Amino acid sequence: MDLLRTKPVERTLDADTGLKRELTAFDLVMLGIGAIIGAGIFVLTGISAATHAGPAVVLSFVVAGIACACAALSYAELASSVGGCGSAYGYGYAGLGEFAGWVIGWMLLAEYAIAVAAVAVGWSGYLANGLQTIGMPIPAHLLHGPLDPQSPGLINLPAALLLAFLAVLIASGAKVSARVNMIIVFVKLATILLFIAVALPHVDAANWTPFIPPVETAEDGSTRFGVMGIFAGAAIVFFAYIGFDAVSTSAEETRHPQRDLPIGIIGSLLVCTVLYIAVSGLLTGIVNYRELNVPSPVAHALLRIGENWAAGLISIGAIAGLTTVCLVMYFALTRLLFAICRDGLLPRSLATIHPRTGTPTRIVVLVGIIMIGMSGFVPLDKLAHLVNISTLAAFVVVCAGVIALRRTRADLPRPFKVPLYPFVPLLGIVVCIWLMLNLPWVTWLAFALWMALGLAIYFLYSYSHSELARKT
Ligand code: ALA
Repeated sequence: MDLLRTKPVERTLDADTGLKRELTAFDLVMLGIGAIIGAGIFVLTGISAATHAGPAVVLSFVVAGIACACAALSYAELASSVGGCGSAYGYGYAGLGEFAGWVIGWMLLAEYAIAVAAVAVGWSGYLANGLQTIGMPIPAHLLHGPLDPQSPGLINLPAALLLAFLAVLIASGAKVSARVNMIIVFVKLATILLFIAVALPHVDAANWTPFIPPVETAEDGSTRFGVMGIFAGAAIVFFAYIGFDAVSTSAEETRHPQRDLPIGIIGSLLVCTVLYIAVSGLLTGIVNYRELNVPSPVAHALLRIGENWAAGLISIGAIAGLTTVCLVMYFALTRLLFAICRDGLLPRSLATIHPRTGTPTRIVVLVGIIMIGMSGFVPLDKLAHLVNISTLAAFVVVCAGVIALRRTRADLPRPFKVPLYPFVPLLGIVVCIWLMLNLPWVTWLAFALWMALGLAIYFLYSYSHSELARKT
């Protein structure tokens, strides 16, 4: 058995793969922001401040931002030199061998699929709240699937309709998806800027003291706040940054991938980091952090300071934000799965491109049906942890991949190089592993089960069906 068998690292970046090359650098930055700003900033910031870090949640954002910056720079180097629409899966495959590629791909499948399903559920919750306030409540059995542990129902109808709509959009082509994404991204950026402008005059510095609340011991013996609370908070708000990596799955649909992928990945992360630090600082500056453990902390804080009109607009922005997160993550999931099926590690018959739209329609439909099923029983908060651990693990391998490839393939053209090599990828590895260690043990257990399933599929199916197995 040859677990290290490797696809040749050839420059597939400009190859004609059947997907249409129509995205620009600006499209990519917008796709990145579309995938990044969502449930993390609108929901998890408040929960993290109230239960882990206090006002020091700003520092949690800085720590998580450092992990992401190192990963983003590593992604950018690999995306510009190796490329391929499967993102880190493809880099792992080419650089570290088929087995490593499969492991990364399997982690990323968890990241994208669970993130989409969970965020679609969050979207449905926001919509239901909004409709209720204008006197049009959605019946409870149409808001929960049959497997919902808390209140079983028939189907989460709003989530299913959203995913069906996104499926049509994604099947229509990358450019159409990018255009719709861009319009909605403007709405959500405008909402965030509105929050910043409205919140600024209401800041009361007393809310920031103590900035790092003293350690508290809960009834179950667990501790919170203090310096360690900053890291526990970082492991959670890390979710808010996830998405810049999704940009790299569009390599085969980008006009000038070597130049534009690094711009898209790093540019979108930079914009979002600045906004996140501003929003989390202001949020804990206008109300006491203990009040923020609510499903919509940003809107809640605005209501508390009497800016009711802005609170309403924030909810619209949040719905817009969650829509693009689902759109871009769904898009990324289809491209990743397409690459895996094309390599034969999952059924090759799925990797077909529709001749007119240039999109992998079979995969779009299949993935849509699976995620509609998942959205029937996925609670956002628990699964955000699972998304985080899978993504952090994938980032560790991406950072390690940069180091491995620089050693094994020093000759490879690298239009973009990680600065301060090898410090940046090494720092990325250390911070990502540290954040993983700050996640609860149940998350580790779920992650271990997911990986065990992945290994079983690899050894029972993928190894023998791989394109590489056919060639040898
Ligand atoms: N970063 C995305 C969000 O916060 C996943 O919703």
